[in-house]
Amino acid sequence: MTVEQEWTRPEGRAVLVPGTVGPRRSVPGRITRPEYVDKDEAVSDTGPFVQSADVIARVREASRVAALALQAAGEAARPGVTTDHIDAVVHDVLLENGAYPSTLGYLGFTKSCCTSLNEVICHGIPDSTVMQPGDLLNVDVTAFLDGVHGDCNATFEVGEVHPRAHDLVEGAHEAMMRGIKAARPGRQVNVIGRVIEKYAARRGYESVRDYTGHGVAEGFHNGLVIPHYDAAPMFDDVITENMTFTIEPMITAGSQEWEMWDDGWTVVTKDRSFSAQFEHTMLITDQGPELLTVV
Ligand code: MF3
Ligand code: CO
Ligand code: CO
Repeated sequence: MTVEQEWTRPEGRAVLVPGTVGPRRSVPGRITRPEYVDKDEAVSDTGPFVQSADVIARVREASRVAALALQAAGEAARPGVTTDHIDAVVHDVLLENGAYPSTLGYLGFTKSCCTSLNEVICHGIPDSTVMQPGDLLNVDVTAFLDGVHGDCNATFEVGEVHPRAHDLVEGAHEAMMRGIKAARPGRQVNVIGRVIEKYAARRGYESVRDYTGHGVAEGFHNGLVIPHYDAAPMFDDVITENMTFTIEPMITAGSQEWEMWDDGWTVVTKDRSFSAQFEHTMLITDQGPELLTVV
């Protein structure tokens, strides 16, 4: 066991193995699906990066609904509960609010949210895995409503967690908030990751480089890339009023190096140290960033 694992992993908590993925949840016909569902390609995953007032109003509502479902997921995240139960909760709240779960049928993903436990960095598939006290559960919810997406995630503490795991969660949240505050019009997007990575390092953590924030509106991932590390002079897109994008740093207790499970989705830390993530969708105004994924 590495030092990083001892710092965060509850005693007796084994390294995760894939559980059983349950049947696909149905969506009533009255709920409009994004074009990509069950296709090999998402043709809507493309620009523009700057949005019209009409699109912004719709992203605002999709984001609010995503945040509602995320809140419900957090209330359900208790020891003894499976990650598939969290998926059911998210699915139901989205449908009740007229939204389609953006991940359901996205490039082969078959669940209504991502559930990333402990050493899972992101894109965990909800399954029969039972949560235990001391676990960290990230739930990532994206809602498709009225032709646009809103995307958010949060890491929840399951029962009582190791103080070091709590610090990791708190550090990841603060890293996101500092990145958000740096997202001011006129700056290059690479300032965001510079702030995030520096802050994480100060707390003794690393920030994952290969998974990024993104423009989100009519496209789930519209081509605007927001790195969470110091990528300058690359990623020099200028932050502009009326952009809508996410900031979603994944912060690791050990090394940010990752590997993928054979399911082709689940990204885990190579050293199996714990990871925590938070995500908001925001609108850039002349005053700075405005959070949209709020209830
Ligand atoms: N919501 C994730 C993000 O923040 C993307 C999940 S895509 C999936 O960008 F296919 F893994 F669900
Ligand atoms: Co996102
Ligand atoms: Co997300």
